[in-house]
Amino acid sequence: MSSETLTKKLLTSNFGKIDSGSIDEYISAGGYSSLEKAFSMKGEDIIDEIKASGLKGRGGAGFPTGLKMDSVKQAEGTPKYIICNADEGEPGNFKDRLLMENDPHQIIEGIIISAYAARINHGYFFIRGEYMNSIKIIEAALEQSRVRGYLGDNILDTGFDFDIDVHTGAGSYVCGEEFALLVSIEGKSGRATYKPPFPTTCGLYNKPTQINNVETFCNIPHILEMGGAEYSKIGTESSKGTKLICLSGNVVNPGLYEVPFGVSVRAIINELGGGIPNNRDIKMVQLGGASGPVIPDDMLDIRLDFQEMREKDLNFGSGAIIVMDERINVLDILKRIIKFFHHESCGKCTPCREGLTQMLLLLDRFIEGTATKEDLALIEVLIETMSQASICGLGQAAPTSVKKVLQYFPEEFTGRIHTMDSMTV
Ligand SMILES: Cc1cc2nc3c(=O)[nH]c(=O)nc-3n(C[C@H](O)[C@H](O)[C@H](O)COP(=O)(O)O)c2cc1C
Ligand code: SF4
Repeated sequence: MSSETLTKKLLTSNFGKIDSGSIDEYISAGGYSSLEKAFSMKGEDIIDEIKASGLKGRGGAGFPTGLKMDSVKQAEGTPKYIICNADEGEPGNFKDRLLMENDPHQIIEGIIISAYAARINHGYFFIRGEYMNSIKIIEAALEQSRVRGYLGDNILDTGFDFDIDVHTGAGSYVCGEEFALLVSIEGKSGRATYKPPFPTTCGLYNKPTQINNVETFCNIPHILEMGGAEYSKIGTESSKGTKLICLSGNVVNPGLYEVPFGVSVRAIINELGGGIPNNRDIKMVQLGGASGPVIPDDMLDIRLDFQEMREKDLNFGSGAIIVMDERINVLDILKRIIKFFHHESCGKCTPCREGLTQMLLLLDRFIEGTATKEDLALIEVLIETMSQASICGLGQAAPTSVKKVLQYFPEEFTGRIHTMDSMTV
């Protein structure tokens, strides 16, 4: 397959073509026409189009967006809120930053359409604090939208009032998790909590709240423009539309690529990424980012598809693909990943807080060559305990890379178990 047929530019169609600081250029490229179309429709009809499109959330969990919108619309209680999750703390991901920097109005248009569909009057952008440039661009774009009458009171004389505030994160990874994010906006310490209830019924200030990822919102204007049925022709049976891929690590051409669902990980690495420098062999590829699974070279033909990945107990998270060639030290990489989560754990629950400390100690034993068979068994129990008993996705997913190395590269652990023979050398 050529690299042209591998890519499909929908969300990135304006990249490099319009000045992201100019609302006029966005409008000239067809921007805000989907919003005007939305204003001629009933809220439930907009949601039906989103349902028909088959759009699933791009923030990692893949929850159907139309269903989420419907739940918020049906939920009792006012005011209702809508939040764009632009925290993007997962190492290996940079797509939301590039969407904000290259086409901010595409996101804003998607948020306004969604708010109108569920009759929500107040929105928030939760932007990672380190993304100072994105924050500036989004704030300027919001102001332009207000001046043009796309935000504020009585938008385009429709009688609909809606505005968006910007809230910046303070450097905590867990604040990308929806409950930690909500309490952070409320001014409390960013910690996750038990579910249910879910934010759709009990979110910001205990009111119904729609939270979606930046990339999810970007799809909304395109779905309204094309119609849900037409949009659903892109991709595969279980995964509709395009996906932004953040390709990094040992590849010739790292960067952002937009592909239709259904392309293989190998095609992304070889055709779009240009393969591995100096034709080295691939040791492993991490999908989704630090919290995602690692797979060996002989599994790279797996396609970007929610269902196909799930059947193999894999996921592509929010779209990072990190390539590691034959030179890497697998246990060192695992230690670095676990150290990251140990640092980011909010400390609220024991399986995550203590589990990560214990996982680091156990990994050290394997790295130093002092581990025993019992340590290996302990790692397996720890993975299970953390993934089953942690309160939020951070602790549940933190040991994923260790679990997958044990599954696909068991010799990395078993080869380092200390034996009586090695003591006598
Ligand atoms: C630890 C943790 C961090 C997360 N970070 C982000 C993030 O930075 N951006 C994001 O969109 N979703 C993140 N999520 C997922 C959100 O909780 C939520 O599912 C998502 O924003 C929903 O949007 P979607 O339906 O459009 O995917 C994170 C989840 C967890 C458990
Ligand atoms: S899993 Fe970790 S980050 Fe999530 S609530 Fe528990 S301690 Fe906090």
